[in-house]
Amino acid sequence: MRKVDVCLTPELLHLYEVEKRVVVIVDILRATSCMTVAIANGVEKIIPVAKLEECQSLREKGCVGAAERDGKMPEGFDLGNSPLAYLNNAYAGKTIAMTTTNGTLAIAKSKDAEEVIVGSFLNKTAVINYLIAQPNDVLIVCAGWKGKVNLEDTLFAGAVVEGLKGYFEIENDSVIASATLYNHAKKDMLAYLSACSHVKRLKNLNIQKDIEFCLHEDQFNVIPVLKEDALVDMEKLVLT
Ligand code: MLT
Repeated sequence: MRKVDVCLTPELLHLYEVEKRVVVIVDILRATSCMTVAIANGVEKIIPVAKLEECQSLREKGCVGAAERDGKMPEGFDLGNSPLAYLNNAYAGKTIAMTTTNGTLAIAKSKDAEEVIVGSFLNKTAVINYLIAQPNDVLIVCAGWKGKVNLEDTLFAGAVVEGLKGYFEIENDSVIASATLYNHAKKDMLAYLSACSHVKRLKNLNIQKDIEFCLHEDQFNVIPVLKEDALVDMEKLVLT
């Protein structure tokens, strides 16, 4: 039986098997939610980079520059990290260079995987159905916050684990912990997360709408997948 595991922070990734696995990157608030909305609204590709300088130099080469640090957009970029900015095909056909505090770093650290896909509540069922249909073991990598575990990513990991029940064997206790948390919080995740650190951080920056939007389930039937150095729509990849 295939195995599923959950890595609660990229700081622990060295303890997990990544090769020969499908890695699901999770950064609910807000990087992977952004990536999902962007690809669902026609963005051609997203180049995730860990450093601001890398993002700036891609911007100078013609990409749209999207950057976030500590929830804010640093000077000299075109976009911050709000998923709402990509709605209504606002950046359809464009290439986005993206750097965020945690999400893009988690991608950079997972590049040895068989395949890297992006998960969020916005495309939850699409991700679960894809994982069930594909042959490999799975590792869910939570981006966390600067190396620390966060609740929102752990809840999403639990939601995926619940969806994979019966198809995958549980590997470590982090899998059970995340599923237990999700089952406890799922009836009202917004209320459950109201005291969590990044929700408070974003609220202090008057970024309430993004929080509510990122907790909506199954708004888009797309899966961003890493192809060489860019995230693209898996569907388009299959068709080419
Ligand atoms: C991150 O990468 O840490 C997040 O996406 C931060 C944010 O967008 O607020």
